[in-house]
Amino acid sequence: MISEKLRNARSYEVEKENQIGKEIRPEYHLSTRVGWMNDPNGFSYYNGMYHLFYQYYPYDTHWGPMHWGHATSKDLLHWEYLPAAIAPDMPYDQDGCFSGSAVELPDGRQLLMYTGVRRETQPDGEIRDVQTQCIAIGDGLNYEKYEGNPVLTQADLPEGGSRFDFRDPKLWREADGTYACVVANCDEKKDGRILLYRSQNALEWHYDSTLRTNNGQIGKMWECPDYFQLDGKDILIASPQELMPERANPYNGNVSVAFIEKSCQLLDYGIDFYAPQTIQSQDGRRIMIGWMQNWDTSGPHRGELPWFGQMSFPRELTIRDGKLIQKPIKELEQLRQNKVAYENVLLAGSNKLEGIQGRKAELELEISSVPDRSMYQSFTLQFAQNKKYYTCLNYRPHESVLEINRTCSGARCMTVHQRSCKVTKADGKIKLRVLLDQYSAEVFVNDGEQVLSVTMYTNPDAEDITFVADGSCMMNVTKYELNAE
Ligand code: FRU
Repeated sequence: MISEKLRNARSYEVEKENQIGKEIRPEYHLSTRVGWMNDPNGFSYYNGMYHLFYQYYPYDTHWGPMHWGHATSKDLLHWEYLPAAIAPDMPYDQDGCFSGSAVELPDGRQLLMYTGVRRETQPDGEIRDVQTQCIAIGDGLNYEKYEGNPVLTQADLPEGGSRFDFRDPKLWREADGTYACVVANCDEKKDGRILLYRSQNALEWHYDSTLRTNNGQIGKMWECPDYFQLDGKDILIASPQELMPERANPYNGNVSVAFIEKSCQLLDYGIDFYAPQTIQSQDGRRIMIGWMQNWDTSGPHRGELPWFGQMSFPRELTIRDGKLIQKPIKELEQLRQNKVAYENVLLAGSNKLEGIQGRKAELELEISSVPDRSMYQSFTLQFAQNKKYYTCLNYRPHESVLEINRTCSGARCMTVHQRSCKVTKADGKIKLRVLLDQYSAEVFVNDGEQVLSVTMYTNPDAEDITFVADGSCMMNVTKYELNAE
């Protein structure tokens, strides 16, 4: 019962993946099997494995009609590709199987809920994508689309809801055995909102309520919602599009945010993090994974590599003082090798340290001012560096600003290459934990208060790391190689 489209994708990916050498892939981040990857989909634990599906176009390193790619892992560190799970092969999803999620049914099968896209000519002659919610059920390898598809259509939208922006269902099973899902939608003013639907059997759905409305506050359409409880608090995650920068919040384009009751927090202050999904792990941790790219910066990429698109490293979420805290999942420590550590290094000017270099590494840094000396002006960590290129992280204690900058990483496009955020003011002290994995850096600030993620496609032989102080500061540094062999 496998359609020709899915069969073609499955044989194409097997044939092409052999042409992508391990040396041009990340070590411990999931990258697309071939072609293009965007959002994580159907992040779940099923039949003893973590499953991660993703928005997938196998035939090009740019976005195209969406399939779902599929990978599994026992530890969230080592991934194995499975055949593409679904393809746009039905009348109601012929122009794309957009983002969605997964749940296990009581009979042991796995249900995927996704957005079906169908391009239709409107009464005024305009051609628009109509979005509906659809279902496919399977065994962790093969999925069959439900004969009752689509299960949520325009008819299920509340007043004013747009059928052109109605997508990304995230579903879960409630304690009483019923099902619920959140879906992104916008109203006639293109203002984002998150709808809640309920179902007895995960097949027949009805509108319940509108969980949250943007009211013109944060961008326009909100994509990829997720909803869960953490530490007794309700958390709603969404990814707003078309954010308008302001003096206090100079972020434009697409971002991801978490609403913790009344407050709203940016999930990542770097450039490349979007559309995250969470699961609860077997041992009760809330784990989040996002697409480690961003629409505005990945659209114009020049295809330097024969693949495009990778996931963030999984992050454990907790709450501290009413704020969401993010840390790399503890499994990461299993990859550590060849520790190198220095304490109380006095930095002034530019320094390299014996044993500290590489592109697949973890760095833990503690920076502080030097007793009885004036406060340093800035501390800079340069990495993915050679004579020509580098990416850097710059901390300016007087302003409490941390900036990530990849302007000189070797990218040809004039898109955003730099972002900065205010960090907690602490008398010149800052803690940074940096995960490097060939083409990316994820920076966890002050034990997970903030994260900045960035991809840089600098040639892997740019392996130098340099520590630069303007003024003088003290540094403790620990470095591990990260090896997933
Ligand atoms: C978010 C998104 C989703 C959509 C998918 C399409 O990145 O735009 O809203 O389902 O990507 O690939």
